[in-house]
Amino acid sequence: MPAPAPLAALHRDHLRQLTQRYQAALATEQLGGVVLLAGAPAFHFLDDTTASWKPNPHFSLFAPLPDAAGSAVLVPAEGEAVLLHLQPDDFWHAPPKAPRGAWLDALDFKTITSEAARDQEIAQWAAAQRGAVVTLGPGHRDPAGFRARVDFARAQKTPYELACLRAANRVAVKGHRAVQAGFEAGESEFALHLRYLAATDHEDHELPYTNIIGLDERGAILHYHHRRREAGPGESLLIDAGASYAGYAADITRSYARSPGPFQALIDAMDRLQQGLIAQLRPGIPWPAMQSACMGALAEVLVDSGLAMASKEAVLEAGLPECFMPHGLGHLLGIQVHDAGGQLADASGTLAPPPAQHPALRLTRTLEENVVVTVEPGLYFIPRFLKALREGPHHALLNWPLVEAMTPYGGIRIEDNVRITADGVENFTRDAFAAEA
Ligand code: GLY
Ligand code: MN
Ligand code: MN
Repeated sequence: MPAPAPLAALHRDHLRQLTQRYQAALATEQLGGVVLLAGAPAFHFLDDTTASWKPNPHFSLFAPLPDAAGSAVLVPAEGEAVLLHLQPDDFWHAPPKAPRGAWLDALDFKTITSEAARDQEIAQWAAAQRGAVVTLGPGHRDPAGFRARVDFARAQKTPYELACLRAANRVAVKGHRAVQAGFEAGESEFALHLRYLAATDHEDHELPYTNIIGLDERGAILHYHHRRREAGPGESLLIDAGASYAGYAADITRSYARSPGPFQALIDAMDRLQQGLIAQLRPGIPWPAMQSACMGALAEVLVDSGLAMASKEAVLEAGLPECFMPHGLGHLLGIQVHDAGGQLADASGTLAPPPAQHPALRLTRTLEENVVVTVEPGLYFIPRFLKALREGPHHALLNWPLVEAMTPYGGIRIEDNVRITADGVENFTRDAFAAEA
């Protein structure tokens, strides 16, 4: 579907800005151009069918064409980028849809009908550039220095990207609302997944990541990808499900209890914790400091709920919050659900590894305006961590009857997608839920 007029104008500006970004990186790296190969789906072993596939995200940043296998974008050191769109002359399969829309004005566009023709076009184009041409795509040596420069810059989204991320949140929230109703009706994980696909108008492979829909104790499996066909008991639900808009991802989690009680009280406490953390976000804050703030707030929840029977300080000292939330507070979000560049200290590719106490942190950067992140604190009753606590030196800090009563509910995660503004945040997810209500 062609983009509506205002988005189309933003899209053209985005492509110009993106081209400038890639050209600045080419200039710094003293390169003559870069070939961004979309890639192609892989065949299953000893089979003639393929796995589901997503294009190289660098290709997708320029060309929002999810089915453009075999296509390429060529970015010269100066002048317009070129889209080589492969539409093979093939009677077995429908060719990829022809690109349409005003965004094509910002690129040179050429249709080719075979991989050989594409390779010939690329070779001719590369020979005409002044300076070495690198290839960024599957099967090629990673131009790591160049890639660090464009990945670092990618954290700050253009107005077009922000519009797409807002729209992806609105689509995902339709699915979340539908699943909430299905949970109230007592449906199975599989039925809830089908409801989600229908409400978001997505096929499975169009989702930015595999839906996580866990009833009861399955909420404690951080990336739970099975879908049980049987319904009961369904006392709790954790749904982590996104949507794609023009290739941009939403990544939203909600947690539900069927009845009021201590687990619902924990959900409410985690919701307040999440909103409290979001209220602290602004440019200049290092993300690892937010992870520490999250662990402090989680220690308070453990104490206030009665799960832990000790001071907040003792709970932190014993490392209990990390046992109940063994993942990072959030990550960059964009054309990829875990967007690139989260652990880059600078554009030259210096890495900022996660601090020792937070090894799972995907994001170690300092926040800047128009960076989009997820904020996804959790609290899970994960059997292997509970066993280690039960058998370890901090056994006496926990209220085991309450821990055991909560374990069948699995866990809680509440995940929103937010843009850092000059003095705070824009919460795409809460805005979308409010609009849907
Ligand atoms: N849905 C994967 C994540 O939250 O990072
Ligand atoms: Mn998620
Ligand atoms: Mn996430």
